[in-house]
Amino acid sequence: MRLDILVLHGAKLRYGCVIGVLLIGLVSASVVSASGSVGSKGMVVSASSEASRVGLDILMAGGNAVDSAVAVGFALSVTYPEAGNLGGGGFAVIRLPTGEVMTLDHREQAPLASRPDQFLDDSGQYDPDKALYSHLASGTPGSVDGLLRLHERFGRLPREAVLAPAIELAESGFRLSDVLASRLRDLVAGVPDRPATVAKFSTPSGPLKGGDLWRQPDLARTLRTISKEGAAGFYTGWVADAIVAEMKRGGGLIAQGDLDGYVSVWREPVHGRYRGFDVYSMGPPSSGGILLVQMLNMLEAFDVASLPLGNAELIHLMTEVERRAYADRAEHLGDPDFWPVPQQALTDTDYAAARMKSFNPERASSSDDVGHGLVFPESEQTTHFSVIDSDGMMVSLTTTLNSSFGSQWVVPGTGILLNNEMDDFAASAKSANQYGLLGNAANAIEPRKRMLSSMSPTIVMKSGQPYLITGSPGGSTIITTVLQVIVNMIDHGLDLEAAVRRPRIHHQWRPDVIYFGPNAISPSALEALRAMGHELEQRPPMGDANSISIHSGVFTGFADPREGGAALGY
Ligand code: GLY
Repeated sequence: MRLDILVLHGAKLRYGCVIGVLLIGLVSASVVSASGSVGSKGMVVSASSEASRVGLDILMAGGNAVDSAVAVGFALSVTYPEAGNLGGGGFAVIRLPTGEVMTLDHREQAPLASRPDQFLDDSGQYDPDKALYSHLASGTPGSVDGLLRLHERFGRLPREAVLAPAIELAESGFRLSDVLASRLRDLVAGVPDRPATVAKFSTPSGPLKGGDLWRQPDLARTLRTISKEGAAGFYTGWVADAIVAEMKRGGGLIAQGDLDGYVSVWREPVHGRYRGFDVYSMGPPSSGGILLVQMLNMLEAFDVASLPLGNAELIHLMTEVERRAYADRAEHLGDPDFWPVPQQALTDTDYAAARMKSFNPERASSSDDVGHGLVFPESEQTTHFSVIDSDGMMVSLTTTLNSSFGSQWVVPGTGILLNNEMDDFAASAKSANQYGLLGNAANAIEPRKRMLSSMSPTIVMKSGQPYLITGSPGGSTIITTVLQVIVNMIDHGLDLEAAVRRPRIHHQWRPDVIYFGPNAISPSALEALRAMGHELEQRPPMGDANSISIHSGVFTGFADPREGGAALGY
């Protein structure tokens, strides 16, 4: 416990907007360390310590969890440019103090001029340069509309108040960590031909270094316009003009009509019951919630708690569950506004039982028996944050540009990085995307359609009371990361920190390989799994599950050390 004097700077003093000094007070803040924190009034966990600080300040200034989450979302566009964004999209799961749970889909949409074959080359093969790094890679951004809609509906503070900290961070700058500075240098070195990207992410005299004060004046101007004008400040006016001009210049497809037509969608959450807990997660166009509930339904029939963590039997069971769920993903999931997703059937417990009939506790199944597939991912950049306030309002929000720094194109004069989310569509039934995920007609490119996602912002309740807020980046590994955090806590009785720290495994049906993080599997378990017929391959650590657990009114926040963010509570 330590006493903290918090001053949320008045952006009013600088910019003449309405908030002024929001709070000057003596507050008892129980920040245990950057990665872990305990509190009972509010908690924010994100991949960026500056953004978590913004979220905590907003809570302490009288904002609710939605105010805080919206402020964190905008702050991440400044301090975590790998995935935090204005030019991307995301999903939020919100639990109100009344107990109602809802979700907001602010996923990007395919521009009206999109074509199903736009990422195929002349010989009909998937062209990763087009799909990932050209202007065609960008979908119509949803983040600004989503964050502002969330705020309009449930926020308590004025819009200017929740945007002020992000403006301040962009305008006055913040000190770069060595890690972020090194990522910016790598980015700039790879795109010498993109002047706006080079200008944003370096200085006129050369690359940025750890400890440098990094200012983003263009982004500050864009954020200030959004603060003044709301969504209109992004989807119309000079910011929209700049996006459309950059699209025209670079051969992209986003036109003013796409920006005018963009609307986030309130959707019902996917709900499942697992050993008496209620699990709420994101429905289509994310595959996250359906797969998570499907996998939990399959696991429920097994005595998971009796299988020690790291044990071959447990990893075999998890793998077979994951194999079956991911095979369904490729076949059945897409944007529900375009494709009849059989959500009820896929999340039905009888279906889970039927799916596991072919499970053999001693032998690996073959993915050939259920389908076909291709290669594994490279970039897995997305970011997740969790927030709770003293009234039990909870926000679980995952947002992304898709790859790290999206398409790596900055819209000149705006500081906005463009997403490369169009790669999350199936380029053709035969092609895998950058995550190695296959898809078919359900996820084919169509104008105004939202591309399938794996993002899985999740809220778990125990007997109607808050229990867990979690989610993760990681492309196709997002859903299995969230699954493992939940199972580690519910079945294995781990506390939040241990549940999040625990090394992870991942199987996605195709390729038919168990990926495992460092120290996830002992040499003897590896041998036993190989003897069962599994192929295994070690990968870098998976996921970044910035989570909050709640027990007897106490909030425990833990920032996943794989990325090194901050949990801050009071
Ligand atoms: N772009 C990663 C995802 O949406 O799953």
